[in-house]
Amino acid sequence: MLDFTYMVPTKILFGRNTIEHLGEELKQYGQRILFVYGQGSIKKTGLYDSVTDIFIKNNVIFHELSGVQPNPRISLVRQGVSLCREHDIECIVAVGGGSVIDCAKTIATGFYHDGDPWDLFLLGDSSVKKALPIGTVLTVAGTGSEMNGNAVISNEETIEKLAIHHDVLRPRFSILDPTYTFLVPQHQTAAGTIDIFSHILEQYFSPTKDAFVQNRMAESLLKTCIYYGPLALAEPSNYEARAQLMWTSSIALNGLLGYGRVSDWATHGIEHALSAAYDVTHGVGLAILTPCWMEYVFNEETKDKFVEYARNVWQIKGTDEMVVAKKGIEKTKEFFTTLGMPQTLRAVGVKQNALAKMAEKTVMHGDIGKFKKLGKNDVLTILQNAF
Ligand code: NZQ
Ligand code: ZN
Repeated sequence: MLDFTYMVPTKILFGRNTIEHLGEELKQYGQRILFVYGQGSIKKTGLYDSVTDIFIKNNVIFHELSGVQPNPRISLVRQGVSLCREHDIECIVAVGGGSVIDCAKTIATGFYHDGDPWDLFLLGDSSVKKALPIGTVLTVAGTGSEMNGNAVISNEETIEKLAIHHDVLRPRFSILDPTYTFLVPQHQTAAGTIDIFSHILEQYFSPTKDAFVQNRMAESLLKTCIYYGPLALAEPSNYEARAQLMWTSSIALNGLLGYGRVSDWATHGIEHALSAAYDVTHGVGLAILTPCWMEYVFNEETKDKFVEYARNVWQIKGTDEMVVAKKGIEKTKEFFTTLGMPQTLRAVGVKQNALAKMAEKTVMHGDIGKFKKLGKNDVLTILQNAF
């Protein structure tokens, strides 16, 4: 086990009707609020009315920033920063999924940054110093942004999608009411489940050998996705299925699985280049790329980890380790297909002649992957295999 500092300060209010606590939570952070949301789902679900009623009852002065798109854009972040400065905003409330929350986080730190907020992504995490407090109301399970310090933003001009990570970006509180996810469409439910699954894998496939407790926690979270993902698709209003996925999304990427070991993150690196270029749904990109990453990095040297995964997650029996490991990869592919995910980049509209550029963008800040280091040619081969 490697040394680490554990800090997960986000207060979680989990369960039905926990929105009732929004007013009292906000009292700690100020009266002037920027209310950030997406492209309208919260109006259809009634959450917009609930949140604004609470603002009004609590004498909160709020300004709205709506229209956050999946794969949120830096241009909207810029508008948000201007709004915060113009109205002397004290706190940001993000109501939505990872895109809305990431947009809010970037506005929160962009507020304190003298230059353009995109600078923070180019300069790196050490350039993030301070952020306005953020509270979230989560409406789709997947990214874990509700409890972590990451923000992922796309730059539509440079066709890049980059991340920043800092503890000041962790929300101060997050309201997690699984009933808000009952109306998440099938496709998005599946993509969210795969995102959770992938976050766990990125930390599970680690070069750190001694991580027994982290591995066993990871395996139980993977099994939770395998059991409850299909159930949420079959029964969208099944509270337990939605609740299990929601909490798994938060703990899969709040740091708990990664503390004390090195994580990989190569598949996410490739996917971010893909969704920057083609605006594909993040979880869909991961569903296509993950099995190809597995097949590419699997060899005699990495075999033990694949065997551990196949046996403990998929209950594959047998003594021939190569066979067992390969069955684990097959099972992963099958699971994603069962959730209705496409299997190839071609199927989501990617053009073959775009692959080289994507590989180049993936490694523009250096090689990726810690379980297995990947350079540009490795990434290109994975993309070609995924095509
Ligand atoms: O915009 P609205 O109308 O709200 O619709 C959204 C959007 O179209 C819809 N939706 C959300 N809740 C709903 C709902 N529709 C019906 N009922 C509801 N209750 O779902 C669509 C997708 O929303 P989005 O926020 O984009 O999804 P997700 O949470 O998967 O976020 C994806 C973004 O997060 C980034 C991804 O790269 C992508 O940009 N990630 C963020 C991470 C983080 N901050 O830690 C880590 C991840 O690895 C990931 O990179
Ligand atoms: Zn992800």
